[in-house]
Amino acid sequence: MQELGTLLAACLSEIARCDSLKRVETLRNAILGKNGKITQVIEKLREMEPDQRRRVGSEINSIKDNVIKALDQRRCELESAEISERLVSEFVDASRPARPRSFGKIHPLTKVSEEIADIMSSYGFVLADGEDIETEYFNFTALNMPEHHPARAMHDTFYLQIAAGECGRRLLRTHTSPIQIHAMLANTPPYRFFSIGRVYRNDCDATHTPMFNQVEGLMVDEKVGFGHLKWLMTDFLKKFFGVKHLSLRLRPSFFPFTEPSAEVDVNYDIVNGKMVFGTGDRWLEVAGCGVVHPNVLRNGNVDTLRYQGIAFAFGIDRLTSLKYGISDLREYFESNERWRNTYGFCHVTV
Ligand code: DAH
Repeated sequence: MQELGTLLAACLSEIARCDSLKRVETLRNAILGKNGKITQVIEKLREMEPDQRRRVGSEINSIKDNVIKALDQRRCELESAEISERLVSEFVDASRPARPRSFGKIHPLTKVSEEIADIMSSYGFVLADGEDIETEYFNFTALNMPEHHPARAMHDTFYLQIAAGECGRRLLRTHTSPIQIHAMLANTPPYRFFSIGRVYRNDCDATHTPMFNQVEGLMVDEKVGFGHLKWLMTDFLKKFFGVKHLSLRLRPSFFPFTEPSAEVDVNYDIVNGKMVFGTGDRWLEVAGCGVVHPNVLRNGNVDTLRYQGIAFAFGIDRLTSLKYGISDLREYFESNERWRNTYGFCHVTV
């Protein structure tokens, strides 16, 4: 059939001339759509005698197959041409120098948390994680603060509403110490863990915010004691403040989860109106620490005849203020862009 022979050739040449994906689709519709050229021929089959219908039917089917193949192939060609073109036009030269301003700034607390994690890891301490919402058991009871213990009252705790059927209250953790218990229960001693996290207490003024950050350290081994603790904290602070010499003053104190316990002061001086750590004879409190109470070790499934533990915690917000001269702690959480541009850090060094 002459007509069908030219139909295929006409379709193929139109397809070859398509220069965009849109044109291919328009043409596909013009050939194979409801009123398309091939569809019309197929419609005509109905009027034909059975013999002729069979012959023409098989011919038109093969034409249709060829046309579909040609359309798909043209589509592929155009798609890969488009990708190649985009690869050229959207080329990014990753070796060009960065423009740090356009990245925004790193929050000082994030920077300091990273510095602390680096220092703690250098002593072989491994990061242990916990949840902001804790149970009374982990936040208090397991840390040797049974119900009605006076130390609980000092924490100004935010309690959550009790859900029906829940026994024991849930709360926003008041310190990172409950992570000690989780870490002990999940591991076999000896081990060294540190955790960094938000803690919450109902307190707010220039030096207290209802949410703040702590870093907690825990080491359990066969022979550890106060000497290790003092060395560790001295070395930690030297590295943190970037000084060669630094003195620590350990003042006897009380924490229910350690015995003996101490509060830790670091020496400093005021030079040209700025605090300089490691010189002078002024003292500033930076941490709490102690030898882990046997009751706490037992609650963490640790054999107290074989192992001892040492633990400490620093306030990260405090350390950040001291190192970078930020006086009002509330600013940390106010999302003030100008403040962040002043006190924030660049993502890249140039
Ligand atoms: N959890 C205490 C607090 O937030 C700080 C603390 C003191 C942690 C002594 C310790 C420690 O691990 O040994 O007030």
